[in-house]
Amino acid sequence: MKLLLYLILLFIISITCSTCLYNKEDILYAEKSCDTTNITFSGKVAPVFARNCLVCHGNAVSPPDGGGLRLQDYPDVKANIIRAYGSMSHQPGFVPMPLGMSGTIDSCDIKIVRIWMNAGAPDN
Ligand code: HEC
Repeated sequence: MKLLLYLILLFIISITCSTCLYNKEDILYAEKSCDTTNITFSGKVAPVFARNCLVCHGNAVSPPDGGGLRLQDYPDVKANIIRAYGSMSHQPGFVPMPLGMSGTIDSCDIKIVRIWMNAGAPDN
């Protein structure tokens, strides 16, 4: 009987420990993953579009893959930044992008674009 109690106790402790370790790992990962320092178009913003949008909105893609909208070079991104940001962050009134994806892209990527846009979308 004592052995059974001991085993149950051990079981409870191991479950508690594994979940708490898992949660800590999650928090650490979330804190580490979004680096919002030194945000420039070439260094951080263009790579966000490259990762998430250029398969359909790159210069080499012809319509209708991206509806003719290009998001590769600075002038194109600058000219379309309001709707590009609205689409990628799934704001009401914008067509949610990427097309066919149920959720949004990585929240850190969205944050990087927002910070750059709010800084006036500079060519840097
Ligand atoms: C799988 C292909 C695909 C991907 C990936 C994709 N798009 Fe699109 N996008 C389209 C197509 C097709 C259209 C035109 C048809 C439409 O508007 O529904 C479009 C249209 C748009 C429009 C214009 C919507 C409007 O009518 O105002 C914006 C803005 C846009 N995309 C932004 C993005 C951004 C930003 C990303 C990356 C986060 C992205 N798209 C990724 C296919 C894609």
